[in-house]
Amino acid sequence: MKLISPSLLSADFGNLQRDIEMLNASECDWLHVDVMDGVFVPNISFGQPVVKHIKRHARKPLDVHLMIVDPGRYVNDFKEAGADILTVHYEACTHLDRTLHAIKDAGMQCGVVLNPGTAVSLLEDTVQLCDVVLLMSVNPGFGGQKFIENTYSKVQQLRALCDRKAPQCLIEVDGGVNVENAPKLFSAGADVLVAGNAVFKSANPLETIKQLKQ
Ligand code: DX5
Ligand code: ZN
Repeated sequence: MKLISPSLLSADFGNLQRDIEMLNASECDWLHVDVMDGVFVPNISFGQPVVKHIKRHARKPLDVHLMIVDPGRYVNDFKEAGADILTVHYEACTHLDRTLHAIKDAGMQCGVVLNPGTAVSLLEDTVQLCDVVLLMSVNPGFGGQKFIENTYSKVQQLRALCDRKAPQCLIEVDGGVNVENAPKLFSAGADVLVAGNAVFKSANPLETIKQLKQ
């Protein structure tokens, strides 16, 4: 599968409705929504009230990436705010199995996110529960960072793990994705690519989304 999930972190927060409508009209598949708490990551982005307003305008599924400590506390809040897919960090969950079940029970698709320093092999016992696994290809916290090359090998390892244990699970990559590395990531086995700066800092975002998909 080749899906694109543009990250609204790089959108113009003063013109979110305009930017969401651009994405509605584009070939993108999901809208990636980065929630940061200033504790799990150094940066603070926005929370449920903003997600609720994004949902009012979005015509595509909201792919909500929680970069917050103990995300299990907020599963129902993000369901109410309109998340369709909710991903939580492996590094932020003491009871990952419980949190994934809570997301599913709330009626959303669930996923685990791995930081660049976290091994794919740690997913042996949870990948079966996942609709998606998100591999960070930068250290989370900010848009516009440089892609970490080791990600290709992690995508291949995760592809092998999913083929063995979780054929339903999509592989998503987030951070520093652009039109140069996108084809390599898809051929390594990725299904969904997140792109923030590559889309929103481009002279022609609609065209860039089309190119990322090819
Ligand atoms: C980083 C976020 C990413 C970020 C990607 O912590 O999780 O989703 O917005 O932005 P780019 O594509 O600019 O690296
Ligand atoms: Zn993200």
